[in-house]
Amino acid sequence: MKDEILRLLKENTKDFISGQEISERFGVSRTAIWKYMNQLKIEGYEIESVSKKGYRLLDSPDILTYEEIYDGLSTKFIGRKIIHFDSIDSTNSKAKELASLLDEDGTVVIAEEQTMGKGRLGRNFISPNRKGIWMSIILKPDINPLKVSMVTQIGAAAINKAFREMKIETLIKWPNDILLNKKKLCGILTEMSAELTKVNFIVMGIGINVNLDKDDFTEEVRETATSAKIEIGKRISRKEIVARILNNFEPLYKAFVEKEDIEETIAICRENSILIDREIRVIKRENSIRAKVLDINNKGELIVKYEDGKVENLISGEISIRGLESYI
Ligand code: BTN
Repeated sequence: MKDEILRLLKENTKDFISGQEISERFGVSRTAIWKYMNQLKIEGYEIESVSKKGYRLLDSPDILTYEEIYDGLSTKFIGRKIIHFDSIDSTNSKAKELASLLDEDGTVVIAEEQTMGKGRLGRNFISPNRKGIWMSIILKPDINPLKVSMVTQIGAAAINKAFREMKIETLIKWPNDILLNKKKLCGILTEMSAELTKVNFIVMGIGINVNLDKDDFTEEVRETATSAKIEIGKRISRKEIVARILNNFEPLYKAFVEKEDIEETIAICRENSILIDREIRVIKRENSIRAKVLDINNKGELIVKYEDGKVENLISGEISIRGLESYI
């Protein structure tokens, strides 16, 4: 009911809507409506209420509920169900819990804050309240488990495209990170449940540092991580980024799952790669080997050339990449 009232307010921001009208439309008492209005105000909605005139929505908070995101959403199935939490341990953990109970492809679990955000290699992922995008997309594609790493690259391509649409010049650090001014802006953690030849579900966790300030980062990552706000000097709308990512993700994902077509994803990853032509260190278990990145091939593998001249195609998941002096 609260969401329906909100939708009505959003459709009529120019005029007041009387309590009488809302109460007749939804068949609830005016006292109940007054309570819903108060709940919305607590969530951060600015609602003007004038006696004898009614209610009018003045401003909406930058929160990541479906009601806030759907205005910008043009997808058919990705993000059409959004499960929103004010605070949660980890959206990936929650998404994995829910995944086997859900049939739909594309449900999104999103939180304003994570208390135990997970990064790759067992690291923590800092996820302060209302400052970033902490979300996990639940996917149930009928693909070979060996191809799941492509989904991460589809995610990276969709995120990078979203930032570029907003004139924020991000680059992709194959295969899981998005960088801004050579610092980490976003990381992807893809987890899955699969049998030998069948994927039960994939949870693609996306963490984006949107409006974090310098002191939100721990000293450990302060030099290598950044936020869009730090780099651009102003706050960015989180809900706009979420909608754009989901809008970009759906066609790329659909092409891959339905037609094994990964061409556009690879083109985006290649054109926006921060690694191609760069000297890097490839870290495999304990070993760190210098190499030059030549290209990303049509299978999404990173082609590197070692100092001894040997060329290798790297599959994501088995290695880490570092720049020679810095994060990249
Ligand atoms: C990395 O860069 O190491 C991956 C970071 C992934 C963080 C996201 S935030 C949403 C989702 N939930 C988690 O606990 N982790 C991922």
